[in-house]
Amino acid sequence: MDIVLSGIRPTGHLHLGNYFGALKNFVKIQDTHKCFFFIADLHSLTTHPHPEDFHNSVKTILCEYLAAGLSPEKSALYIQSDVPEISELFVLLNMLAYKGEMERTAAFKDKVRKNPENVNTGLLTYPVLMASDILIHRAKYVPVGKDQEQHLEIARLLARRFNNMYGCEVFPEPQAFNFGSDLLKVPGLDGSGKMGKSEGNGIYLYEDDKSITKKVMRAVTDSGPTEPDSPKPEVIENLFTLMRLVSEPSTIQYFEDKWNDCSIRYGDLKKQLAADICATVAPIRERIDAIAADEKYLGEVVALGRDKARESAAATLALAREAVGFRKF
Ligand code: ADP
Ligand code: TRP
Repeated sequence: MDIVLSGIRPTGHLHLGNYFGALKNFVKIQDTHKCFFFIADLHSLTTHPHPEDFHNSVKTILCEYLAAGLSPEKSALYIQSDVPEISELFVLLNMLAYKGEMERTAAFKDKVRKNPENVNTGLLTYPVLMASDILIHRAKYVPVGKDQEQHLEIARLLARRFNNMYGCEVFPEPQAFNFGSDLLKVPGLDGSGKMGKSEGNGIYLYEDDKSITKKVMRAVTDSGPTEPDSPKPEVIENLFTLMRLVSEPSTIQYFEDKWNDCSIRYGDLKKQLAADICATVAPIRERIDAIAADEKYLGEVVALGRDKARESAAATLALAREAVGFRKF
């Protein structure tokens, strides 16, 4: 079975973009691939979170992953800092990563521009840690968004460099993983394109009906169609895109017809969309609450994930150590 691996930094709640764009696919591939899903808490330390907040953020993602359907039995679901083998591989790979290469990555340049007061070397070597996450399990596939493609390229570069330097084949080169033919982009409700945490336009899995409804009712629209069967402007297409994710086909058809004969009332459309988003999110929110209240279960999940991840990581690290020349006396 091919290995798929994905990591997420623990920063806030998951939104519908994360859910429909990533999580729902993760849930499916658990049956067809060997999956490693982890919470990248070491990566988050670049921003120096408060320890208490930090722990709560990790717990939030863990609960939301579980509530969305990731299975601790089928997959290895773990916390990065529970697997010290990753940090040791990070040291080895750092010796093969050049300062200039790291400085040239788009994400690093962006961080330097946005936070010139906190350009720590953890930020500089972020791609090396990410490569360690991936290579430690010799993962074949990594589902990544556009913003992470350059980091994946660095993981490939370091895998190649390690193999060449030590004349071995320890690390396969990881590839981007695409779910199906077209990459789903979940739009925001503000007409700005993508739903995202940094865009500030998210609808969250852990959001109550009232708050969701308020956000949907405030979605940007236009003055309405004036000619039958006209193409939809982006802000309206966005509402339909969301509807296609959460509503019944008959509901979507109803509003398509209303659009096409110019009798559409955006208020009705939004009301329906809000109700259907709430119906999707409510059961997940209830599961999040139940899981978060069960500390014993969470402890078991994390321990199981750690054991699975460490077993796989230790096997790879032994090969890497041997290749480098760490030998027994
Ligand atoms: P954000 O943009 O909110 O910071 P992340 O980069 O943490 O989100 O998202 C993690 C993953 O969730 C992405 O790699 C992508 O697969 C998925 N994702 C996030 N936002 C969207 C979106 N609007 N549409 C589709 N998928 C998304
Ligand atoms: N850098 C990724 C992000 O910001 C998170 C991440 C860390 C990751 N390590 C990874 C993703 C390994 C995939 C594989 O979204």
